Amino acid sequence: MQEPNPESKTIATAYGEKASYEYDKRRFSTPHGKLFNQLEMEQLSRVARDLAHPSRILEVGCGTGRFMRSLCSKGHKVYGLEPSVFMLDKAREKTLQFEYAYYVLGEGKALPFPNDAFDLVYSIRVINQVASLDYAFEMIKEMVRVCRSRGCILLEFCNSRGIRRRKYRGVRMSVGDLEALLNCDPSVCIESVTGILFLSQTVMNMVPVYGLSLFERVDRKLAGCLPQLCSRCYAVIRK
Ligand SMILES: C[S@@+](CC[C@H](N)C(=O)[O-])C[C@H]1O[C@@H](n2cnc3c(N)ncnc32)[C@H](O)[C@@H]1O
Repeated sequence: MQEPNPESKTIATAYGEKASYEYDKRRFSTPHGKLFNQLEMEQLSRVARDLAHPSRILEVGCGTGRFMRSLCSKGHKVYGLEPSVFMLDKAREKTLQFEYAYYVLGEGKALPFPNDAFDLVYSIRVINQVASLDYAFEMIKEMVRVCRSRGCILLEFCNSRGIRRRKYRGVRMSVGDLEALLNCDPSVCIESVTGILFLSQTVMNMVPVYGLSLFERVDRKLAGCLPQLCSRCYAVIRK
């Protein structure tokens, strides 16, 4: 394995080279991983379908670019920001054929963009990875700053109020935490909160493959009725 140069991994929470190779395969190649991927894609598509073409979009913590590819294929101009050059390289490989895919080395709490630069700013599976809840709040404020007025922010987070509160070392927050943070900013409001994996990823992973479609049906029903108790929440914030 090549020795990472000091600038390859700008912050401690950035994924390293090994993680960049394993990321897609380990998470999304099994039937369980594919279902998870599909549930996440649906959340992003729900927001993206209302966008004008082409829109300017920023993904904070784009990882290997699985969401970027989908948005680029619809003709949008998509910026992927990452603190890991290894993950950025994977994202670049995945979106090579698209003219309007851009890659930026940086971190969530200091977005290197001017105010009001994007129509949509989103982040999925990142808030739980950052250094602390305070960091997460700084990152959310940055996402709001770079989103234009009447634009939209989609924020995924691990829910501290989920029904299954197993021990978890990553950052978790609640819809209440988000409301309290955004209440200080009159320019934004939470338009909706949806959720996935009401019964949690841990429970899903225990379900045998033949039971997955039943799990999916039950879980979707529960998530639809009680989004604020899901293990993963998606808040749509309107500016
Ligand atoms: C679990 S991956 C998610 C990647 C992508 N969003 C996805 O869902 O496939 C978390 C990503 O967040 C990046 N990351 C970690 N800390 C970050 C930070 N402070 N700001 C932005 N991205 C960060 C990691 O390098 C990693 O690529």
